[in-house]
Amino acid sequence: MSVLSARLLKSTPLLAAEPEATETAARETHAEPVRLGVIGPGSRGKELMRQLLRVPGAEFVAVCDVYEPRFAQASELVGHPLATYKDHRALLDRKDLDAVIVASPPVFHAQHVIDVMLSGRAVYGEKTMGFTPQSCFDIVDTVKKTGQIFQVGHQMRYAPWFQESVRRIHAGEIGEPTHIYAYWCRQDDWRRVVPSPDLEHLMNWRLYRESSGGLLEELGSHQIDFANWVFGELPASILGTTSIATYHDGRTVGDNVQAILHYSRGRRLVFNSLTANAMMGEQLWVYGTKGSVQITPEDATFYTEARKVITAASHSSVVQRGVKTGASYKANGEMPYRGPGARIDARNAEEPTLTACRAFVQCVRTKTQPIADVHAGFGSAIACSIGKDAVFEGSTKTIPPLTQGHA
Ligand SMILES: NC(=O)c1ccc[n+]([C@@H]2O[C@H](COP(=O)([O-])OP(=O)(O)OC[C@H]3O[C@@H](n4cnc5c(N)ncnc54)[C@H](O)[C@@H]3O)[C@@H](O)[C@H]2O)c1
Repeated sequence: MSVLSARLLKSTPLLAAEPEATETAARETHAEPVRLGVIGPGSRGKELMRQLLRVPGAEFVAVCDVYEPRFAQASELVGHPLATYKDHRALLDRKDLDAVIVASPPVFHAQHVIDVMLSGRAVYGEKTMGFTPQSCFDIVDTVKKTGQIFQVGHQMRYAPWFQESVRRIHAGEIGEPTHIYAYWCRQDDWRRVVPSPDLEHLMNWRLYRESSGGLLEELGSHQIDFANWVFGELPASILGTTSIATYHDGRTVGDNVQAILHYSRGRRLVFNSLTANAMMGEQLWVYGTKGSVQITPEDATFYTEARKVITAASHSSVVQRGVKTGASYKANGEMPYRGPGARIDARNAEEPTLTACRAFVQCVRTKTQPIADVHAGFGSAIACSIGKDAVFEGSTKTIPPLTQGHA
């Protein structure tokens, strides 16, 4: 058993850096640099740059954006002038790039990541991988055709407390996992103040259906990826609904979403996202036949329940006392969730985006496909690209069975 697993099982806090990781970092310092370009150094793109600057050997060379103020921001971030381009194809004409980060809005992902791979470079492509079902297939096909490294921005695949939770779920600790309840609730209207009205759609792309799959795509995609990981398959269909309950400001995506994703053998992911009430925060509950696990950005907690033996009422007791329905309403001190649970404390763990960036640089060096590969990207993206229509229409949409081959 590794040092990390032993520590997790004792429920002690995760440390910021494992000794092995520090040694690896020291070795990486002497490795060849990995020269990077960025397409779309906006909010997320700059965060990825910040994290990659902490990875030994990662060097930024050039950025591409259609909004010029990003150029100065990106150069300031790295501390030296970067080459700048308004067209991603001009950036890809450079000879000195090893890999490219794509953090443009989702409608552009397919065009950008496919062109990067066709130019012979590895790509770290932000989620959601593709905006339409066809674009998801096209990206998978390009990875197959070019053999290029493709890592998707589902960084929770790199979080040790997520990895450990999934390992323990798969080992049977909570029995058969049948339901996942995913909450992503915030107080955040998503609206950005724009310098001039002509920039509304460029900056507030999340608010409009032509450029955004709304909360399902922007937040739910991470949680769908988690459910696909736990259940080991893609959902077969999705039932969704949305409304504008608070922010009546001209947006065409809802400010809250509820969706149920159907997996085989009756298993379900239930997703709920609110943007005017942060009470439930960001958390996942996995319910199994022998227990439950709650996973948050800070920890994971396993709960076990005493098994209740359910026996059928005998014919004579039904005749004598009538059919027994629910007990009458009374406090009985038996709420299972009042127990303390067994906690994996992750508050001191490394930021998962940094771990994901470290892993990407390592994959580029060693020419290996990452953990968060194109199949993980496909699984959440196909569900979102089809499921967003279910959410917008208030209907159920089927995810074609042929997509399962990509899981
Ligand atoms: N993995 C995560 O946790 C996470 C977190 C936040 C955002 N994201 C994803 O990152 C992506 C970007 O989100 P954001 O919040 O940074 O958006 P953003 O609007 O802040 O940044 C996008 C950038 O792309 C630029 N851009 C737009 N069209 C372009 C084009 N055709 N060519 C080049 N540049 C173009 C914009 O000018 C902007 O600078 C989205 O796909 C989002 O879902 C992922």
